[in-house]
Amino acid sequence: MIEEEIKKLTFNFLINLLGSDNVIFDEYSKEIYGKDNTEDLLFLPDIIVKPSTANEVSEILKFANKYKIPVTPRGGGTGLSGGALPCDGGILLSLERMNRILEIDERNFQVIVEPGVITEVLQKECEKKNMFYPVDPASSGSCFIGGNVAECAGGPRAVKYGVTKDYILSLEVVLPNGKIINTGSRTLKNVVGYNLTQLFVGSEGTLGIITKIILKLIPLPKIRKALLIAFNSPKECIASVAEFFRQSITPSALEFMEKDAIKAAEKHLDKVFPNSNAEAQLLLELDGDMEENLYYQMEKISEIAEKFGAFDIIIADDKTKVDELWLLRKSIGEAVKAISVYKEEDTVVPRYFLPDLLLGVKGIAEKYNLKTICYGHAGDGNLHVNILKENMSDEDWNSKINYAIEEIFRLTVSLNGTISGEHGIGYTQKRFLKIALSEAEIDLMKSIKRLFDPNNILNPNKIFLYD
Ligand code: LAC
Ligand code: ZN
Repeated sequence: MIEEEIKKLTFNFLINLLGSDNVIFDEYSKEIYGKDNTEDLLFLPDIIVKPSTANEVSEILKFANKYKIPVTPRGGGTGLSGGALPCDGGILLSLERMNRILEIDERNFQVIVEPGVITEVLQKECEKKNMFYPVDPASSGSCFIGGNVAECAGGPRAVKYGVTKDYILSLEVVLPNGKIINTGSRTLKNVVGYNLTQLFVGSEGTLGIITKIILKLIPLPKIRKALLIAFNSPKECIASVAEFFRQSITPSALEFMEKDAIKAAEKHLDKVFPNSNAEAQLLLELDGDMEENLYYQMEKISEIAEKFGAFDIIIADDKTKVDELWLLRKSIGEAVKAISVYKEEDTVVPRYFLPDLLLGVKGIAEKYNLKTICYGHAGDGNLHVNILKENMSDEDWNSKINYAIEEIFRLTVSLNGTISGEHGIGYTQKRFLKIALSEAEIDLMKSIKRLFDPNNILNPNKIFLYD
């Protein structure tokens, strides 16, 4: 909590700077902005502000730095590791008013945006000009591009097109001391000094507040087709993933869904999908410009899938059918959340080790008598493991859950993987960071944080445990 006099001073300062419409502190709003999409966590901010320019953000940070007030930046609030939760109270800084697409540069295939643009809005605007921003998180309809940069969002198309970091040319960032800097440049190549752009990408709002982003775009593929491939054995299903790549298939997405994930989505959407009693299914998407090429790949895919015991393949060859399958896949996260209190782990391994990860996770869950639902971006080796509390007593759940997660993460690391592919460490995974990183590595990262933010005002209580 902020001391009373400082609180009063802060309110006056912020209202003067932003106008009373953009400074909010009623209880209802605090509850809304006190949550993101992470479990059922809630941390109330003292005050919510909605600046509309980098200069306003700068003034807020200068003030907060002077009085050592915590500031938590927030995008669309769709994060899954609590990155936008105002854990220490203070100022919740929402970027929702900075939502303009400033320039679409068709000559150079670039776009300049403010952080509050919804990712899907950006994608659609680019598509109108036959340009493609391919990074497509499950929450694309509500997440903000700024949050995507802060968390280095991934999503299904990463397997062919890469993640958010691969599209960022330059950032405008306000540092915790209020200075405004620009990283990178509008060129595709740049070896001038340290790569500050990539330091900010995935730094989860702990080093600076992103106020402008220059992204590179690529040509929009003209055709998309998808296959839903049903298996009776989850192990064989997931084992087939590496083989597609070894046989030169280039999917634009390759997603794994176990039966319980599909069933949860069916219930959530009140819809029935094909083969939903199969133990596991792959959703494989192909894109390109040549129909023949996609059909050629589809034949090869069928052959490989059959070798791994696939018993049916549904083909979606027009936009409506493809979109329908993505609705199924993209609603799984929300659907699982609706079932029970849960923990979501974002494990990632080199894809050949996915069967070891999946079976290992199931073994650990069985040992602790916990229910898991697994799905995710199999082409990237990225398996989302949801652990459900269901009817378990609080006591039982609390005594087991962290041990189970720790075992899952140790398994992940032993398979040359790591503990988050795209959701970040944020608030919820801090205690597990030491499983993935050495003490020397964590110390170096903490020194970077101190260098940028010596008063630890910006998104405190994230990524690192402080003792
Ligand atoms: C998804 C989110 C949970 O892949 O990352 O659906
Ligand atoms: Zn995901």
